[in-house]
Amino acid sequence: MTYEFETFCADCRDAYDPESGDADIEAIRQCLEKLLQTNTEFVEAHCGADAEYGVHEIYRDPAKGFIVYAHNFPKGRTSPPHDHGESWAVYGQAKKFTDMTEWRRLDDGSRDGFAEIEEANTYRLEPGMVGKFGPHDIHQIHFEDDARLIRVTGADLFVMDTLTYDPATHSVKTVGTGSAADTERGAIDSTAA
Ligand SMILES: [Fe+2]
Repeated sequence: MTYEFETFCADCRDAYDPESGDADIEAIRQCLEKLLQTNTEFVEAHCGADAEYGVHEIYRDPAKGFIVYAHNFPKGRTSPPHDHGESWAVYGQAKKFTDMTEWRRLDDGSRDGFAEIEEANTYRLEPGMVGKFGPHDIHQIHFEDDARLIRVTGADLFVMDTLTYDPATHSVKTVGTGSAADTERGAIDSTAA
């Protein structure tokens, strides 16, 4: 049975704890899998061959603030390791695949600009699969030309500070307000026709 997008959004809203206000991102991850696996109309409309390249905001929840985006990448790219600041994120693969690498931070963050990180886990997201990342979790993505995904974030990454890491130089830098999420958006901006 088709899982309607409206039901998906309602289920995401219900995944927030009324006491703490925290989202159950595993529940949201499972909802996104169900959406991608059952609602081909939704997937084709937003991530099909005719869907426009770029980052498109599909839905922003007025009550909880989560945002659903379609990311349609014309060109492949490997991002640097990065986090999403205070926000959680779930990545649902719609077309092609994304290789995810999760990184673990080893230092205590007390030295300005210094960070030591190591690879913790790698896996491939195939169509219909969804990965989840909590606040400040560090990850790196690699995808090929024409990869398409649906991403849900807890907040607007384009207006919040996030961190980008360089494991080779043991450095970390803050990506400032408005240019956050450079890792995914940069792929669009630098290759837009
Ligand atoms: Fe990311």
